Amino acid sequence: MTHSASAIDTEKFRLRRFADQLIEIGEVEVHGEPVSLVNLSAIIEGTTKAVLFKQAGPEGAEIIAKTAGSRRRVAAAFGTTEAGLYDAYYRRLAEPQQYVEIPSDDAPVHAVVLTGRDVDLTRLPFHPQHALDGSCYISSAMDFTVDPASGRRNVGCRRLSLRNRYECGTNVTSPSDLKRIYQACVARGERLPITFTVGNHPLDFIAATMRQGDDELALIAQMRGEPAAVVKSLTNDIRVPADAEMTLEGYLDERGYVEPEGPYGEYMGYYGAIHMDPVFHCTAITMRSDVLHLTLLHGSADVLEQTDNTNINQLRTEAEALRILKASGRDPVAAHLCARSGGNNNLRIALRQRTPGEARQAIHTLFGALRPVKHLFVFDADIDIRDEGQVAWAMGTRFQADEDIVVLNGMLGMTMDPSLRGRRTGAKAGFDCTKPIGRDGEVPWTRVGAKTFTGPARFQSVEAALATGPMFYSDVVEGIGSDDGRDVAVALDRLRQEGRLMRDRDGRYSLGASEPGATGIVGALYPDPNEGA
Ligand SMILES: Cc1cc2nc3c(=O)[nH]c(=O)nc-3n(C[C@H](O)[C@H](O)[C@H](O)COP(=O)(O)O)c2cc1C
Repeated sequence: MTHSASAIDTEKFRLRRFADQLIEIGEVEVHGEPVSLVNLSAIIEGTTKAVLFKQAGPEGAEIIAKTAGSRRRVAAAFGTTEAGLYDAYYRRLAEPQQYVEIPSDDAPVHAVVLTGRDVDLTRLPFHPQHALDGSCYISSAMDFTVDPASGRRNVGCRRLSLRNRYECGTNVTSPSDLKRIYQACVARGERLPITFTVGNHPLDFIAATMRQGDDELALIAQMRGEPAAVVKSLTNDIRVPADAEMTLEGYLDERGYVEPEGPYGEYMGYYGAIHMDPVFHCTAITMRSDVLHLTLLHGSADVLEQTDNTNINQLRTEAEALRILKASGRDPVAAHLCARSGGNNNLRIALRQRTPGEARQAIHTLFGALRPVKHLFVFDADIDIRDEGQVAWAMGTRFQADEDIVVLNGMLGMTMDPSLRGRRTGAKAGFDCTKPIGRDGEVPWTRVGAKTFTGPARFQSVEAALATGPMFYSDVVEGIGSDDGRDVAVALDRLRQEGRLMRDRDGRYSLGASEPGATGIVGALYPDPNEGA
């Protein structure tokens, strides 16, 4: 199906529209007063909400921060609820979409155009972000390139640091498609044309962080769930979403990794050290006439769960883990990426184990598929893996370090992890926190909790109740409609004295023949862990 350019609404996925949506659902703290650029980050870090600054810096720029900084906001981006997020994501994954090129005149992001000597990056709201950062940053840029060798379009997210009117530092150090494309250009002595967009919908960021072999520009349309309008940049041949708030066109120069970048507060909550990186040369700035700038919360260690990066990762990693486990024949019921673990480090899975070994199988399957995951915790389906208390209980009571830990050495790690101490590979650990299979219903593996007694009485007496079969004490109390319980204890003791009371290993009472005065035992009791102690 082809879509005409005129059928595409270039307002629907613009950042300002999404900001309005977030304001409507109470997710935004609005600052109408003038705020200096140096003060933005402390305010952003200090609230759980997204933040809209109406007058930031001397230019009075309008800037919104943390639009993807919570699960609720990510759900709003998909037009769904938190409960509906995975389905919304899977639906989009299953339906490829196309992008449609529109003329520059129709592209909102080309409403204002600054080229040549009019380019002035120093008037854009780059702002100080983390205490030890090497410069001020626009952390919310998405990069668009075409691999000159193959013609494949690549999309990612990269930060930009301010150098002067026409140049920025950028960060293309971790292994990525862009790094590979750029290094090949440098080897040929060529520049790499690149256009950054700033001010995109959260769905565009989700698309940008997906790595796949095909044309990545189409992923933006796919994550939006409908065709997207793109426009050719004015000073290079790169196509970008026509509904972004701003674009910075230009190129990475042919000199390669020649200038220091950083330190920068990285997504694991530590600073990425200063290192060499390419320089971006800006040949045009274009923007909407009512541009809304975007900034992100990136590395703040105490509130990692509120960073845009974490929330984007969380959805993708959880949804992918569930999809991969189902495809490999497991029966997962939940996935939870621990937002405070730094990137994708700690992932929890709850699954229904039907045969022994499924938890271990899941650990190996996921480590094979999800490189960024470092620690995997597998729980039974009865554990709410978002509840720290239940997780601590299961780890404390269902896990034995000598039997239930799986360590894989020499695995690809995430280079930002300081515990790798500069290595590319490291260890992954899986923790099998599941109960032994087939022991459900046995008292030593049964959760303890008070009983809620409900009526009406079903039996005339304790003896009549036990005549129907073995029963737990509280079931007898409920069965005869006692609102006390002591009467049942005394009646049971009378049966004992008469030599008619039996108990099984789980503690159920039943009628039978025993020594008068002694309770008979049906079968063998569980081994007593305290014997000889
Ligand atoms: C908000 C955000 C900011 C990011 N900033 C950078 C960055 O500055 N440098 C970098 O190498 N990766 C950064 N990333 C990760 C890359 O964008 C991501 O790995 C992407 O998949 C790379 O795309 P590519 O392999 O298609 O080039 C960032 C991710 C997010 C979500």
